[in-house]
Amino acid sequence: MPVRQSAVHMIDHLDRDHLRRALEHDVRAGLTATPKQLPPKWFYDAAGSELFTRITRLPEYYPTRRELAILKTRAGDIAAAGGADTLVELGSGTSEKTVLLLEALTSAGTLRTYTPVDVDALTLAEAGRRIAAGFPGLTVRAVCADFERHLGLLPRTGRRMVAFLGGTIGNLDPAAREVFLKDLRATLRPGDTFLLGADLVKDTGRLVAAYDDAAGVTAAFNRNVLHVINRELAADFEPDAFEHVALYDERHDWIEMRLRATRDMRVTIGGLGLTASFAAGEEMRTEISAKFRLEGLRDELAAAGFATLRQYTDPTGDFSLTLAGA
Ligand SMILES: C[S@@+](CC[C@H](N)C(=O)[O-])C[C@H]1O[C@@H](n2cnc3c(N)ncnc32)[C@H](O)[C@@H]1O
Repeated sequence: MPVRQSAVHMIDHLDRDHLRRALEHDVRAGLTATPKQLPPKWFYDAAGSELFTRITRLPEYYPTRRELAILKTRAGDIAAAGGADTLVELGSGTSEKTVLLLEALTSAGTLRTYTPVDVDALTLAEAGRRIAAGFPGLTVRAVCADFERHLGLLPRTGRRMVAFLGGTIGNLDPAAREVFLKDLRATLRPGDTFLLGADLVKDTGRLVAAYDDAAGVTAAFNRNVLHVINRELAADFEPDAFEHVALYDERHDWIEMRLRATRDMRVTIGGLGLTASFAAGEEMRTEISAKFRLEGLRDELAAAGFATLRQYTDPTGDFSLTLAGA
């Protein structure tokens, strides 16, 4: 019998112009705001994705290992409950953990198509090729898109499971999360499912350590956003003149990553015709990573019109996976 070869189809909703306009908008808005802030999606050029992969292997960074532990024992159950022929994955990155889901859906006999979605085109294409090579017969449609803007452009056919792993949902603040969940719900039909990986509230020391590792990899990841702005917008940030800061905000239940200016600085962003002044000690927020409680997750999903079907945690109770129905 001939073996069906898999192919990767790349669909790009983020042409250079679109990306540039979005970056320009975010940098202008963020650097003229008080306090200054930048959205986390701009960490992820190829170098940022590589740094993130190194973070996932750090001893302090438990979320990846914990989510993997849940998938190892529950992927079969999730695949059976979802019955999906199309797996759409938002913020898929290297798709490493996803292999477990793909294997389970393949064993269940339902899977036809995998649609990874990410802003980083290079990492997306590489992951797509790897998955296509490992899953003969699977159609891989890699979509370079922004999950906060392009949910409406994702595939509408088949019985879909949308996976959003790695705790990336925590990068959205509560208002953005509400909009995202409602928008996602609006694209789904009865029978479709949403698999959400979310990090749980825990001891503050462990949370902070996960975002401030001893080897300084997270610090390099944090500063990478300045390298991206220098390269893309002809700016003259001195990344090493900014200190990495990670703190836990107990009022909001989120980690904040910040970059703190070590001295007074004037930065020119040539591509925007903008200068930004930093006072010594001034901090710019670069990421929030919200931590959740199981009941809170169910409530937020319900408010967006999802019904929780299954909720799993790893044996230590550090991380959660929630399978919700549309
Ligand atoms: C925290 S990493 C998680 C990667 C992977 N899902 C995991 O669990 O290890 C976040 C991923 O989402 C992507 N990403 C961040 N913001 C995005 C956005 N607005 N739209 C699409 N992808 C985004 C990043 O490029 C990165 O690959």
